[in-house]
Amino acid sequence: MTASRVTVVVDSRYGSTLALARAVASGALSEGAEVRLCRVAIDEPEFSVDSERLILLRPRQNSVRYPEPLPMILTGQKELSGGLPPDMLMSTPLRAFIDEVAPLWRQGALIGKVGAAFTSTGGMHSGNEMTLLSLLLPFMQHGMVLAGVPHSVPELVRTEKGGSPYGATTVTGFDGNRGVDENELAIARALGARVARLSGWVTLEPSSVELAAYAT
Ligand SMILES: Cc1cc2nc3c(=O)[nH]c(=O)nc-3n(C[C@H](O)[C@H](O)[C@H](O)COP(=O)(O)O)c2cc1C
Repeated sequence: MTASRVTVVVDSRYGSTLALARAVASGALSEGAEVRLCRVAIDEPEFSVDSERLILLRPRQNSVRYPEPLPMILTGQKELSGGLPPDMLMSTPLRAFIDEVAPLWRQGALIGKVGAAFTSTGGMHSGNEMTLLSLLLPFMQHGMVLAGVPHSVPELVRTEKGGSPYGATTVTGFDGNRGVDENELAIARALGARVARLSGWVTLEPSSVELAAYAT
């Protein structure tokens, strides 16, 4: 069997979602997958920097921002796993990225590929799982097969903050002081490993949207 190829796509301002992305990637690597970790190459628009955001930024002004965006090619990948920090559910760069890859829908390029989501939120009940779901919906629209986290992953039972059957998450606290803990990282690794494993089992489906949508 050929090695699974996993692309982990992330948008992260302060590093929490990136920490999860790295854990997802290492989980996939542990299953022998070929893994690429990419940051969306779209900057936040100027208008999104408002007074509310500046209050959130202040306690973490020493946080390191990422260096250059990494290259990102999706076509031909067998799996995709996406993560985002929420801007009231989905960050602007990640939303823009999803819009940008919409042409892949017409090609049917993601049909039958395994998709999974991960995210980081300040609060436990302020959009954590909703953000995952908001990402999984476009994955379904693309015809992807969704992977979550089963309760056989012990850290999912043990976790005191992030981690969900719908994907990997962290809850960092509204001033970012809670960080990403070991349970959350273990769940993210389990998700990455599962995506890699599942992709080996999923049988490739016909991927031509043109044929399916326009056949008479
Ligand atoms: C503009 C903005 C909007 C946010 N909206 C939410 C939100 O709706 N719910 C929430 O729990 N956290 C919210 N947060 C907090 C971030 O989700 C949280 O800090 C997250 O851990 C950042 O991820 P990162 O470290 O990968 O950048 C928001 C932060 C910003 C800057």
